[in-house]
Amino acid sequence: MNVLMFKDHEAMSRYAAKLFIDQLQTDPQSVLGLATGSTPIELYQALIRANKSGEITFKDVTTFNLDEYLGVAADHPESYARFMREHLFDAIDIDQANTHIPSGLAIDPVKEGADYDEKIRQAGGIDLQVLGLGGNAHVGFNEPAESLSNQTHATQLTQDTREANARFFGSIEEVPTEAITMGMGSIMRAKKIILMASGQAKAKAIQQTVEGPITTQAPSSLLQLHPDVTVLIDEAAGSNLKETSYEIL
Ligand code: F6R
Repeated sequence: MNVLMFKDHEAMSRYAAKLFIDQLQTDPQSVLGLATGSTPIELYQALIRANKSGEITFKDVTTFNLDEYLGVAADHPESYARFMREHLFDAIDIDQANTHIPSGLAIDPVKEGADYDEKIRQAGGIDLQVLGLGGNAHVGFNEPAESLSNQTHATQLTQDTREANARFFGSIEEVPTEAITMGMGSIMRAKKIILMASGQAKAKAIQQTVEGPITTQAPSSLLQLHPDVTVLIDEAAGSNLKETSYEIL
């Protein structure tokens, strides 16, 4: 894993944007794997600016999002479909038909998951995947568990995750209990992965991701086995790392 430490979230987001801009300039037909949540918002803002200034175009880009809440329609204010439209898709020159998010209303989530993985395969696989990190070391909604799934699948959200996401809903009771998420296999098949994390609340999970044993109880630790992962963190998220010789960028 290539770990890069930044002085703050903004510097980290600028660097992540540079990696995405390089990817799109090298291959304008890239397939991007996208995340929701607070972490990538500044990255998406930087990509919108780069698109508006003509530095990059999304017109031949395809995207696949990691996850969606189950039981939540695409037009629900807290759906990830709506998040993506608001924070990225409506502001760039992407063809909305080339944006993919698992359906929160899938009647048969097993079929929805299999179809989603097949669509990723047919698109040629994900070239660059961005990941946020749960405080409990989840990636996508692959929560700590006795075993993990390879495929895109339906999953129960842990209490920790529902509490962390309650800030977007009126109360914890309104946070869905289930989601549909790319599996660890779907994520690990991406050619390149960027994991971003900032703030003290992610410090333990970053230590588990980068230095901890590979375990299903810290799903992000599986990324240690991927050949091309760049971990972008701020100082607070890196504060539990035993290795302390990171230069602050
Ligand atoms: C979102 C996702 C989640 C988040 C993670 C961190 O699509 O898959 O794994 O990346 O929960 O969320 P934030 O960035 O809000 O701290």
